[in-house]
Amino acid sequence: MQLLDGKKTSEDIKNEIAAEVLRMKADGQKVPHLAAVIVGTNGASLTYVGSKVKSCQQIGFESTLVSLSENISEEELLDKIKELNEDDDLDGYIVQLPLPKHIDEQKILMAIDPDKDVDGFHPANFGKMALEMETFLPATPYGIMELLERYKVETAGKHTVVIGRSHIVGRPMSILMSRKGYPGDSTVTLTHSRTRNIEEYTKNADIIITALGVPNYLKGDMVKDGVVVIDVGITRVEDASHPKGYVITGDVDFASVSPKSSFITPVPGGVGPMTIAMLLKNTLLARKIRSR
Ligand code: GUN
Repeated sequence: MQLLDGKKTSEDIKNEIAAEVLRMKADGQKVPHLAAVIVGTNGASLTYVGSKVKSCQQIGFESTLVSLSENISEEELLDKIKELNEDDDLDGYIVQLPLPKHIDEQKILMAIDPDKDVDGFHPANFGKMALEMETFLPATPYGIMELLERYKVETAGKHTVVIGRSHIVGRPMSILMSRKGYPGDSTVTLTHSRTRNIEEYTKNADIIITALGVPNYLKGDMVKDGVVVIDVGITRVEDASHPKGYVITGDVDFASVSPKSSFITPVPGGVGPMTIAMLLKNTLLARKIRSR
């Protein structure tokens, strides 16, 4: 069993980007500038956005944090989006999800300029992804593709089972793994909450990617020997013995699944850290495209 170390791999990627930023500076070029919009004070969202901004500073990007009140109206948020779209200094930005219930998420994501949509959530970019055109890939699926590639995990002709059909992980993951080329070229089954007898699929899977948010859901008796397991789950499970009062728990029961796997991601330290590295990679791409 080999661990797919997202913590180390994400550090490698950030170092590669930092080196490129130094080259850009030496050439007198503008460095990439990323903004993150956060609405309200959701604890997990604040943590994620904080890490994104901190990572920008580490690698030499410019960054802007836009903190907005929980009570902002949809119209006011759309005005802010318009301002960011028109800000010529800004290469890319993200609107951290989830948004408060009174705001139509789809409407907000549709308003983001696709050329600045470094999360890859805009339908134009989602379509380009499906059509194998150059675009910003959604950060979490992109991070998984990068892990598979850097660890040289074989994917061609393999049966990949994705669990969960969310717009930001499961659905794009299923598309990427079936695309032409490496990593990809896989035969994909996309399973979800309405799937019957899910074990029939997981037991026959060469690669399993879980993104459902149910702690320790995938057990050892649901997988075959030699399986590659990618765990996207990051649920906070209460644990009074822990200083923070919770532990981050994945969808995979690591104790029973890891002995049967050829490769497996830990939680934490697997997919999570990769997400930020890939957002930065997308922002670098946005800058390069804008300077062409
Ligand atoms: N919420 C959970 N994951 C993400 C992400 O990748 N991007 C944004 N904007 N919000 C999220």
